[in-house]
Amino acid sequence: MTHTYRIDTGRQTLVLAARNTRLPQVVYWGAPLPADEDLAMLHAAHAIDITGGMLDENPDLSLCPEASRSFPGQPGLILRDAGGAPVLAMFSLVDAVQTATDLRLTYRDADNGLDLICTFLSDPETHIITCQTALNAEYPVYLDWLAAPVLPAPQHSETMIDISGRWCGEFQLAHTPWSAGIRLRESRTGRSGHEHFPGLIVPCHGATNTQGEAYAFHYGWSGGHRMIAEELADGRRQIQWGHAAGSDTQAATHFSTAPLYINYSDSGLNGCAVAFQRHLRDRIVTWPKPDTPRPVHYNCWEAVYFDHKLPVLKDIATRAAALGAERFVLDDGWFGRRDDDTTSLSDWIVDARKYPQGLQPLIAHIHGLGMTFGLWFEPEMINEDSDTYRTHPGWVLGRADQTRGRQQLVLNMALPAVREYLYGRIAAILTDHPIDYIKWDHNRVLPMPDAAQTRGTYALLDRLRVDFPAVEIESCASGGGRIDFGILQRTQRVWLSDSNDALERLRIQHDAALFLPMAVTGSHVGPRICHTSGRTLDMSLRAWVAAQRHMGFEMDPRELTDHEAAVLSKVTGWWKQNRHWLHSADILRLDSADPAVIAEQQLARDKARFVVFAGKAATSTQIVPRPLRLTGLDGQARYRVTLVNRDEAPGLSRGAPLLKSGSLVASGTYLMQHGVTLPWSFPDRIWVLQGESL
Ligand code: DGJ
Repeated sequence: MTHTYRIDTGRQTLVLAARNTRLPQVVYWGAPLPADEDLAMLHAAHAIDITGGMLDENPDLSLCPEASRSFPGQPGLILRDAGGAPVLAMFSLVDAVQTATDLRLTYRDADNGLDLICTFLSDPETHIITCQTALNAEYPVYLDWLAAPVLPAPQHSETMIDISGRWCGEFQLAHTPWSAGIRLRESRTGRSGHEHFPGLIVPCHGATNTQGEAYAFHYGWSGGHRMIAEELADGRRQIQWGHAAGSDTQAATHFSTAPLYINYSDSGLNGCAVAFQRHLRDRIVTWPKPDTPRPVHYNCWEAVYFDHKLPVLKDIATRAAALGAERFVLDDGWFGRRDDDTTSLSDWIVDARKYPQGLQPLIAHIHGLGMTFGLWFEPEMINEDSDTYRTHPGWVLGRADQTRGRQQLVLNMALPAVREYLYGRIAAILTDHPIDYIKWDHNRVLPMPDAAQTRGTYALLDRLRVDFPAVEIESCASGGGRIDFGILQRTQRVWLSDSNDALERLRIQHDAALFLPMAVTGSHVGPRICHTSGRTLDMSLRAWVAAQRHMGFEMDPRELTDHEAAVLSKVTGWWKQNRHWLHSADILRLDSADPAVIAEQQLARDKARFVVFAGKAATSTQIVPRPLRLTGLDGQARYRVTLVNRDEAPGLSRGAPLLKSGSLVASGTYLMQHGVTLPWSFPDRIWVLQGESL
């Protein structure tokens, strides 16, 4: 007997099928199947042949491949009993419950007292399928590995794209050819990490940003994860995601993976990106004030660092407001005796030396300028030079002789007393001051991966959010060290990178757009001489790159020339005029014919307007720009396309391309097939094109 289940999102169908009561396997995942497709037939057709040297029955690549059935690759579950002996589970069906959007499958291993539950939730609007695996045991067991529902990777694919990175260099796409064996990515630092953003895209033959088929995965967990992409000797390919191996350190009777978000696209990598962007913005993030536009930020970190002086901060706030800022975020340095990064973390009390009358005078000044006020915390951290450490040395996570990171240690967030203390301190500050924003930092890795730590952090965030529902939170971890749908379920913005170098940022945010929408992605105009790259870039590039995402400033506004201030005000004005539709627009990465150009198109949901950012990140090899093909437009519609910053064409651009003097009116087909011919420009510049359908 065959059990079959299908999950549809309108843009994809996923078919599961099982022999008798066994765990099911994915027998189809791709473009939508007809409603009357014979799923049992697909199951029969899916069976692969057996030849010499193989078992007489081919082990299924099931939702949780079982070692007990001689599965030849990584099993989906690795378990030990209380004495440390391996438990080889073998599951059979107990229950299957399906609604229009949900599927819940329960399996039991009676001999070992285990239940395995796999759930699927399909979203017909975002086209994301969310799946998760849970394990219940009658007796406490040790979990070494539990995979979220295991999925096959396509055969018609040559490479996989996963994501590497580093501090100031987040979201680097790593292309790896498929070959026999395992590609394993693991974040063992207790954060999703700069080094291993938990995402994977498997493009099929010939897929580009704008066309072809692709499959995509994101594991929504902030505590460190493992990804396994394995090609078995028989040629099948499996994708597994779970918490970093061994990060559940205690024997327990219940375990669960984080949600795994998956989708199939027939419109290139952009189809996957748009699904993730929409799902994150419209389903995962909860917005305290959904109808209020994203405010332009000012963050004082790179202007003053720890040197907080009230008159200076007031002056900076006044200038930031004049440039267009709407929210002032007071960064590190306001509490304890925090004059540098050696001291005071966890002493969340306003420093009376710097703020003798508390924060109120600064906040009142900021409010008087029409801005709201945000404050920096790094709740999970502690310095040994702090009153809290002197009172509670036992609150630290890990060994006393562990290596420090930025001179700091980590608080053990699994301890209720630690969470209670942090809640009390943060709640007191939020109660005593009109604060609408927290920048929540996390600047060092954990001494070891520990899922309980992440659960503790989530619990603290959840409690604060219940009691202070109007406060927005930004997730920062030395820039983009903690970006994932788990933390974004509790926050509204990510500090994508500590690099405010606009050229680096152009690339980072381009690649991050495979997962992140504009609305959550912070991007700031930094100091003229970038503090992390030493590079000096023109204000136009710096401002427009920030305007590609949730815009902000982070330089000392006192350094701006009149010209720089004018350019920044103009671009900020443009952003404010357009943010109402940019907030819900899709970011589409363009297939630039010139590798020197990093280009994207932000397309309104109704396709009635778009903006294209074409950044020239290097000197081109050819003389004049290659036409830039747009995407996602209505081929029959006519669009008026205008170069927003055409006044920036340099003197060396001596010709008369239409866009230098006027607008181009053309069909979507022309714009997508031939592309837009831009004027010549220097490298390190960006063209901004706006289009509207007529
Ligand atoms: C690291 C963050 O990424 C910076 O933006 C800043 O908040 C510092 N921490 C403060 O210590």
